[in-house]
Amino acid sequence: MSLSLIAKNIGESATLKLNEIAAILRAKGDPVIHLGGGEPKGKAPLDAVLAATSAVASGEVRYTPPDGTPELKKAIIRYTEEFYGFRPAPENVMASGGAKQAIMTALHALIDPQGEVVFPVPYWVSYPDMVKIVGGIPVPAEPEDGSFIPRIQDIEQMVGSYTKLVIINSPNNPSGAVYPEDFIADVVDFCERRGLWLLMDDIYHRLVFDGRKPINPYSYAKDRSENSKLILVNGVSKQYAMTGFRIGWAVGNRRLIEAMTNIQGHETSGPSVLLQHAAVGAINGLQSPVEGLRATLENNRNVLVAELEAFEGVIIDKPGGTFYSFPDFSTYGRDSVALSKFILDKVQVLTVPGKEFGMEGHLRLSFCGSVKEITEGIERIKWALDPNSPNELYIGERKLVRDWT
Ligand SMILES: Cc1ncc(COP(=O)(O)O)c(C=O)c1O
Repeated sequence: MSLSLIAKNIGESATLKLNEIAAILRAKGDPVIHLGGGEPKGKAPLDAVLAATSAVASGEVRYTPPDGTPELKKAIIRYTEEFYGFRPAPENVMASGGAKQAIMTALHALIDPQGEVVFPVPYWVSYPDMVKIVGGIPVPAEPEDGSFIPRIQDIEQMVGSYTKLVIINSPNNPSGAVYPEDFIADVVDFCERRGLWLLMDDIYHRLVFDGRKPINPYSYAKDRSENSKLILVNGVSKQYAMTGFRIGWAVGNRRLIEAMTNIQGHETSGPSVLLQHAAVGAINGLQSPVEGLRATLENNRNVLVAELEAFEGVIIDKPGGTFYSFPDFSTYGRDSVALSKFILDKVQVLTVPGKEFGMEGHLRLSFCGSVKEITEGIERIKWALDPNSPNELYIGERKLVRDWT
């Protein structure tokens, strides 16, 4: 079939595919545990639900300005001021169909064919393909010490004359690492000095643990003028458990936001008015659901880390935020795709292979489900991998017999 070169070069999202596999197995009645998920399980905040419901009941469901309704932009401006101490003008804000679309539109607006985009390893699974969609070249920057925390030298080394943009995602998917303030300060400074665009993917910024405060890149920016090349991306998906509402946004300089809005206008005409109402409800409503979610995740993180610390051969770096951990399973095999498949086949636990995030030997295990799913999921993985496991494992009524070494 004569598909475009880009289409031939783009793979399916590994994480979305796992959701599909989990749904198929569950529909078959299989006792699958999904530790590969990327969304909180709780319900959306009531304020969001009520706002969307009354919007739909009004029957006035039409196009909005392609960069978002004035109400949503106002809510985003207030949010940005509250969390970043920076008050953008409405012209500095574009709402979009999830943070994903905000990032995609920014790439469309900035990257020419062969333009390079640098981001640290491990990286969010979608960055390389998103960059390829716009004809650019993804340039993963591996921390020299093999850790999850990049140093500015790791980024500097990968920046060349074709580099246009650096993407930083902290708290990080998949590692859960919260990058140190010093690194954020250094990267903001480096990009300003080198005239590079810097996109901060802050989608998990309020989901941090152990008393951490969200890190604010604006506090290190010398240039807050309309020449600033700092782009902030955020959204309601993760912090408000509203993944299916598909609302995110970008804050950036006017010329960039205008270009992004032109592109978005042609591509989608902007996000749905109903979902924009819901997002306003969430952002302006009671914030206790965010704290409730954060506290639940911190507790889940503690359970998961305790389980993994007791798992011989597995090395776990305690996540400082998000709802992901990225333990090193290389004792049990460096080929993370094979390992993930083995675990799924033998004990029906879904995990995401580290390869998808640029780091072999690791598996991404989410802790956004229940404590029971976490403990049982890890117990099953342990049974499958540890050669000293007992011969049998019961999953409900089902008896599994260990016939491998
Ligand atoms: C790092 C990162 N950025 C962006 C997104 C996309 O968020 P949204 O659902 O708002 O499109 C995700 C979702 O998994 C993510 O992990």
